[in-house]
Formats: sequence, structure tokens, C-alpha cells
Amino acid sequence: MKGIILSGGNGTRLYPSTNIISKQLLPVYDKPMIYYPLSTLMLAGIKEVAIISTPRDLPNYQMLLGGGTSLGIEISYFEQPEPRGLADAFLVCESFIKDENVALILGDNIFYGNTKFHEIVNNFSGGAMIFGYPVQNPERYGVLDFDRDGGIKGIIEKPIQAPSNYAVPGFYLYDNTVVSRAKRLKPSERGEIEITDLNVSYLSDSSLNVQLLGRGIAWFDTGTSKSLVEASAFLESVESVQSYKIGCIEEISLRKKFINLKSFDSLLEKIPPSQYKDYLLKIRPEFSSDSNLSSSTIERLQS
Ligand code: DAU
Repeated sequence: MKGIILSGGNGTRLYPSTNIISKQLLPVYDKPMIYYPLSTLMLAGIKEVAIISTPRDLPNYQMLLGGGTSLGIEISYFEQPEPRGLADAFLVCESFIKDENVALILGDNIFYGNTKFHEIVNNFSGGAMIFGYPVQNPERYGVLDFDRDGGIKGIIEKPIQAPSNYAVPGFYLYDNTVVSRAKRLKPSERGEIEITDLNVSYLSDSSLNVQLLGRGIAWFDTGTSKSLVEASAFLESVESVQSYKIGCIEEISLRKKFINLKSFDSLLEKIPPSQYKDYLLKIRPEFSSDSNLSSSTIERLQS
């Protein structure tokens, strides 16, 4: 399965912070926001990734993440000149998707906990898979409407009165019919082709699967200043208690064996002295059989 990170939009809700920089490059606690959705894809075992952003911001993403080779993945970049809707991701990336299944994650969505996304991606066998997550303010999101037996009878985008408190988070899996389905969508009143309409098209064909995420999982849509602070505070507190970083893409590459220790060391050499580098140096011995590194090697990696 391939993966798309949708990181465009005008970020107007975060003005003036987004006046000269893309929202999804703003820091959430100790790293750029896009590290989190990228790490979600990597943890799900997805190694071919497309990043979509605006013509203004795309060069910054390229500067930050390059072609992905140093992380053992492949990253390609696609321009979306106008925010034409979430489902537009499949039109922009048609040449990237080719004949494969595809996961879409929104660049401002952060997941933490045992989501089992890797297993779900591995077992994906067609149709669409979306998730449901209980929230206090469902009106801000796409919302699941359940029938009496707990089946899904509808999904409503930003309802005035929510039919349930289950929001649909910004992580979706689709089979290859997604491109032709997206092409058939009509723009909504706000002039966008809506992901909810795409999901409803799968629902109408009885090929929409919905999995509810359990209470051990945290999900943030960091689209507002308040949610950005809440996510940062949450990540800071978990990282301090556990002394593991969340969304650390270099660590994930090593743990998932996308890169070996030699490539990890080359990566380390390019990172300037920082707390981030100290962390990577701290976890390194877990992966090394030679715990007695020569002092010259330690010096080289630390500098
Ligand atoms: O976060 C989950 C929610 O995301 C879902 O529950 C909703 O069904 C879905 O419509 C979406 O709602 P949002 O109001 O959060 O969507 P927003 O317009 O803020 O776009 C989400 C992200 O995608 C945002 O970071 C900007 C980016 N984006 C958006 C559009 C419309 C693009 O890159 N291109 C676009 O064309």
C-alpha cells in the first residue's frame, strides 16, 4: 500500500503563525507537525509516500525530508495549487497511486497508542477502511451515524446536530477504485470535493469498513491554536514520563529495519548537536552489539 500525506491548505485558522510557513511545518512540542503523520505511515509499514502541499510550501518539505532515502523510504512531492478538498488528493496523486491501494493521512492529524494500523494495513483486502473516535465536539468533524444494530447508516460532514459522538479521524485506507470515485464527486457548498462524500460512495456499495478506535488511543486534529497546545502538552508529558520520543522518524526507520545501523550513523552525523540528537544517541546501543564504541567513533557521532 502507498501513502499520501495531505499538507496543503491555507492554514488561515492559525494566522499569523501560518503567514509565511505551512501549518504542518509548525512544531508540535519538539518536532515539525508532519513528523507525526509520516511516522504513522511508517509504523503502518508504508514506505512509498507522497506529500501534497502548496507551490509556496512544497520546497520547504523537500528541504526537510528530501527523497526519504536516508530513512529507507521513498518520498515524492505533489503540488495542490488550491485547497479543492481532501478527496482532491487522489486526483493530484493519480500518477503516484497507479494501480495500488492507498492510505491518506491528513498532515495535521496525530495518532498515539496501539492503533494496530500495521495489522489493519496488512489485512486490507479492498473497499475502504475508515475509523471512528469518540470526541466531545463532533460537530467539527465528519461524524458517524449508526443504525440500531451498530452498523453505519451514514456519515455527515460537520453536522449542526451530531448523530453520534464518533468523529472520523483523518486516516483512511482505500482500494484502487478511489481515483475514479474521486473523479465523479461533485463539489460541496463550500466548493470542495469532500472525503465524506467519497466514504459515502463506498458505503452505498456496502464496501465501507469502519473500525472504532479504543480508549487507549489518543487522536488530535491540530488545526486550531488550542488543539495545537493540547497536543504539544500531551506529547511533552508522555515523552517525559516514558523517556521515549513520539514520532521520531529516524528511530522508527531503525526499529522497523528500513535502515541499518551504518545508515543510522550517517544520519546522525548530519544532525547538529541538540536534544533530538542526544536522544538518538541514547537509543543507539539498543541496536548495537558492540557496546564498547571507540572514543573516536563516539566523538564523531556526537559532533
Ligand atoms: O481531522 C479529521 C477531519 O478532517 C474529518 O473528520 C473531516 O471529515 C474532514 O473533512 C476534515 O475536516 P477538517 O475541517 O479538519 O478539514 P480541513 O479543511 O481543515 O483540512 C484538513 C487538512 O487538510 C488541513 O491541514 C489542510 C489540508 N487540506 C485541506 C484541503 C481542503 C489540504 O491540504 N488541501 C485541501 O484541499
